[in-house]
Amino acid sequence: MSEDSLQELIETAKTARLRSIAPFSNFLVGAAVRTAEGKIYTGSNIESASYGLTVCGERVAIWKALSEGERDFVELAIVADTESLTPPCGTCRQIIWEFAKHAKIILSNLQGETQECSIKELLPRAFDARFLSAHKD
Ligand code: THU
Repeated sequence: MSEDSLQELIETAKTARLRSIAPFSNFLVGAAVRTAEGKIYTGSNIESASYGLTVCGERVAIWKALSEGERDFVELAIVADTESLTPPCGTCRQIIWEFAKHAKIILSNLQGETQECSIKELLPRAFDARFLSAHKD
């Protein structure tokens, strides 16, 4: 992917961040996932008064794409307003591992700093369906 298209994905995540519903934490997160065919799906975190039913921006983007039939993801940009770039939470790491394993993950902030990483680095020795089919009884 070209530098321009990475920048476009980050900008799209940044715009999605502004649609966050985060009245309890005031911590706004935007995400944008790109499919192998080049389509972009966005997400922002949506908080519930129950707190526990809150959903992160990353998962909203991935759920939207999966529910539209997408299965093949190449890039995932995540934007938050933090000096130290915000990585996906543990729950999102599991979902990225299961559904967007090959996506390049791009972390970014409002100052335009970016860092690339992979889910393999973020979630070593992950659990997934392979273990379900390998069990002994
Ligand atoms: N959050 C995300 O949307 N993504 C992350 O990677 C980290 C956390 C949200 C969840 C909650 O709405 C707020 O940020 C504070 O945890």
